[in-house]
Formats: sequence, C-alpha cells, structure tokens
Amino acid sequence: MENVFVSQHPLVKHKLAKLRSVTTEPKKFRELVREIAGLLTYEATLDLELDSFEVTTPLEKMNGSILKEKIGLVPILRSGLGMVEGIWDLMPSAEVWHIGLYRDEKTLKPVEYYNKLPIEPRVSVCLILDPMLATGGSASATIDVLKRWGVKRIKFVGIIGAPEGIRHVHENHPDVPIFLAEVDRQLNEHGYILPGLGDAGDRQFGTG
Ligand code: URA
Repeated sequence: MENVFVSQHPLVKHKLAKLRSVTTEPKKFRELVREIAGLLTYEATLDLELDSFEVTTPLEKMNGSILKEKIGLVPILRSGLGMVEGIWDLMPSAEVWHIGLYRDEKTLKPVEYYNKLPIEPRVSVCLILDPMLATGGSASATIDVLKRWGVKRIKFVGIIGAPEGIRHVHENHPDVPIFLAEVDRQLNEHGYILPGLGDAGDRQFGTG
C-alpha cells in the first residue's frame, strides 16, 4: 500500500521478536519499545529539511547542517508514551504534545478525554506515536485533531500494524505516511492484533 513503510532493518526485526515474546518482562519490554521507536524514527525522518550554518572546527570554518523544522511528538496515551524517550535520544528538542483518547470497549471507537494542545501549532512536523495500529480509530482521530490544529506534515510511527487499522488510516488520511516494524495478520474480536504482542500498555507498565 502506498505511503506505508515497513522497516526491513535487521535490528528492528531482531528487537521486535524479543518484544513479542510472552517471557519479556516490563523493564526489557520498555527498553525494546524505546529502541525500536528510535530506529523507526530514524527511517521516518529521512526527509526532514535542513538549514545550513557555519561551524568552526578546531582547524577551519565550514558549512554544517541543522534541522530546519520544529518537530512535535504526539504519543497516543498511554502506550505511545514509551516511544517518546527513544525519539528524544535522537531529537532532544522535539516538543511533546498530549492528546488522550481511550477506546470504548463496546464500540471499539476512540473517545477524546484530554487535549493539551495550545491554540496555534508551534511545530511544522508531528509524529504520532502508538506501538499498536489496531483498528486505526485512535490514530485517525488524532490526525483529525492535528489537521484541525493546523499541522502541515503528519506522520504515524507505530511498531505493529493490523491490515484493518492501516486501511482505516490510509482511507481517511492518504497523505499521512505510516511507519511500522511489521504488519501482522488480523485483529481478533476484542480488537487485539494477532499474533501481536498483547496489550502494549499493560506490558510496559506492568499492569497486565
Ligand atoms: N492495543 C494493544 O495494546 N494491543 C493490541 O493488540 C491492540 C491494541
């Protein structure tokens, strides 16, 4: 599918298999989420624009590059939070904006309960973070909010996507590229991804 990028990086595949394992404890699980988020963001930010500026090395002056665009990270609460640290390691000046959505267990539809965005966007590129792109409802609703807020470039960075969720986001927002470590088989009747990794929030925060 156009605008869907599945990492082929061996490190991502290696770490993802460990992440999926039922024997992986929360501490290790959090580390892996952080590391995979960083690796995927490395791929997702390949097209960021640069400005040139003069750097003085110990030997002479030269033209160096600096990121031109202000980046906003929008983790979908709560499991997207674990991805932030890994991306901050790469882009420490990225701003983090919170939008809280929960999935209604009956309808599986997203309900917005928290929104801390200021009136005007201060960033030109937003990365929406959610390890699991399941139904695509939360991702799509978050993209709606960010577009209404006026963000010009939005990208979704997840870890595992279900075909149903990818289709949902792609149909509603074909302009938003989706970066994933893997696309899995399907959703089960409770909206969990199969084979997946279980509940990414519970596994990070030890609440399962
Ligand atoms: N959210 C999760 O944490 N896991 C899934 O499989 C689907 C949604």
